[in-house]
Amino acid sequence: MKTIFVKDYDEMSKKGFEFMKEVLESKERPVLSMTTGGTPRGVFKLFVEEVQNGLDISSATIMNLDEYMGPRDAVYTVRTFMYENLYNLISAKPENIFLIDGAAQDTDKEIARYKEILDQYPRDIQLLGLGTNGHIGANEPGTPFDSTMFLAQHDESTIQSTMKEYGIGREEAPTEMLTLGFTEILAAKQVILLVSGKHKAEAVKALLEGEITPDCPATALRNSDHTVVIIDEDAASLLEKEY
Ligand code: F6R
Repeated sequence: MKTIFVKDYDEMSKKGFEFMKEVLESKERPVLSMTTGGTPRGVFKLFVEEVQNGLDISSATIMNLDEYMGPRDAVYTVRTFMYENLYNLISAKPENIFLIDGAAQDTDKEIARYKEILDQYPRDIQLLGLGTNGHIGANEPGTPFDSTMFLAQHDESTIQSTMKEYGIGREEAPTEMLTLGFTEILAAKQVILLVSGKHKAEAVKALLEGEITPDCPATALRNSDHTVVIIDEDAASLLEKEY
């Protein structure tokens, strides 16, 4: 895993977007898999600006890492996030948009459908955020490192983060998510993990300086040679070693 240290949230977003832009400009049929939440909002802003300024995405495929179980148009879904932060804001459209269906009744069938898409469209980039408890996607502490796409139960800290991020109460907050497992996450050609803020500092310390263990899911990425983690000063504030 390669580390890139940046000053703040804006620099993290710029750096993260650079990787995406490079792929969009150099690949004939680029495939990007996105994440949602507070961390990538800055990346999405840059993405929208660039597309509106002429960045060509007509042959791109854009998909997602995960989806909350619940009504498709709920305020917290990945689908809602993607439309509000990207698809509704750009006049050009990508060749393909793929989303996981969090309203699916038969989750096994939905997993099989999405896995086929993953096989058909090998990802150039998998973008990721980091949970305060070290989760990746919805691979919560305790998830085996050989996980494949599954229906995950959220830890309480993740439910609380979702409530805060989307301004919703406990009753409305989703408790389950369909998520790629580590196997699919690491199958992307490049994995870009973005981390910003003091509230992520413990998780960053565990990620870089703790034991490699399912207790900190993100450590599954530590030995990957195609993963880049972009960390801002606040998130790096508890690190003890020199990098
Ligand atoms: C969301 C996702 C989650 C978030 C993580 C960090 O699609 O997969 O793993 O990346 O919970 O969330 P934020 O960015 O809101 O701190």
